Amino acid sequence: MPDEALRIPVLLDCDTGIDDALALTYLACRDDVELAGIVSTAGNAEVAHVTANNLGLTELLAGLLGPGTPVARGSEAPLGGELMTAADTHGPTGMGHAILPEPARAADVRSGAQLWVDAARAHPGRLVGFVIGPHTNLALALEIEPRLPRLLKRLHIMGGAINHRGNTAPTTEWNIAVDPEAAHRVLAAFAQAPIRPVLGALEATEAVRFTQGTLEALQAISAHPIVPVLTDALRWYFEFHEADGFGWMAHVHDPLVVAQAFEPRLASAVPLAVDVELTGALTRGETVGDWLGRWNREPNVEVMREVDADGFVAHLLEVLRRGLRRDP
Ligand code: RIB
Ligand code: CA
Repeated sequence: MPDEALRIPVLLDCDTGIDDALALTYLACRDDVELAGIVSTAGNAEVAHVTANNLGLTELLAGLLGPGTPVARGSEAPLGGELMTAADTHGPTGMGHAILPEPARAADVRSGAQLWVDAARAHPGRLVGFVIGPHTNLALALEIEPRLPRLLKRLHIMGGAINHRGNTAPTTEWNIAVDPEAAHRVLAAFAQAPIRPVLGALEATEAVRFTQGTLEALQAISAHPIVPVLTDALRWYFEFHEADGFGWMAHVHDPLVVAQAFEPRLASAVPLAVDVELTGALTRGETVGDWLGRWNREPNVEVMREVDADGFVAHLLEVLRRGLRRDP
């Protein structure tokens, strides 16, 4: 296990959420990561459920994370107005069929936005940020600390759909659709970042297809109590995808974006100027990419392309297998 000073400090902003739970478990299983904090963002479920899910998961993973990973509760609602949630996709509490232990500890006293700022200030130039839910709390953090884009080592985003059908409205992806104003502000602010954020949008993350075989491989991976939680959660996700016409499978978005930050071989990324539509009657929340340079703007993100989907699934299972073996 690398010593504390050599581990990579990470802040995870998530709307846990079935695939968020997998991404969190992946981070816990990497012994080169120090999880500096988790920001609970309303999206897949109300913020109370997301916070409880993150507290319950960090309790199950305390043997790997340590006992006190800060879990902060974010804003109740998006910047842009009323919250929409996805009980059909992630279940009434956000964890599908899984039942998490009642958290023994309370959420951090700070807001989600404040935890972003404090974690970035505690690790200037070293903190890797992940936003795998709506951008509400990251946008609020930018109001507290406008220097955030320069304080982070890099930001990795799961969100958007560029020249690709949406999964929420016809042209919109969930994380952006929940809070388009927040995403617009984040993309504008991080255009000044020393290194462009990586954007893992649907055209990349939908290359990942969990099958029944993946589910069975996960079930067999370890006797650790987190495994049945993940497989019970995923079973709901498979049922949702089947009901949505995709067959018995699941597109698992968040862990790919997190893993690619540590294993760039899993997907390439190309510079692109991207912005968020805010007023379209049919397209509000759409992420628009300017491939031909019509806006005369510098690229503000690196858009993920060419995903090694099979390589990712094998990598995910291997990291979980190795990591969960370390938990006494
Ligand atoms: O569109 C997929 C994204 O929306 C994922 O982050 C999933 O967890 C949901 O939040
Ligand atoms: Ca998510």
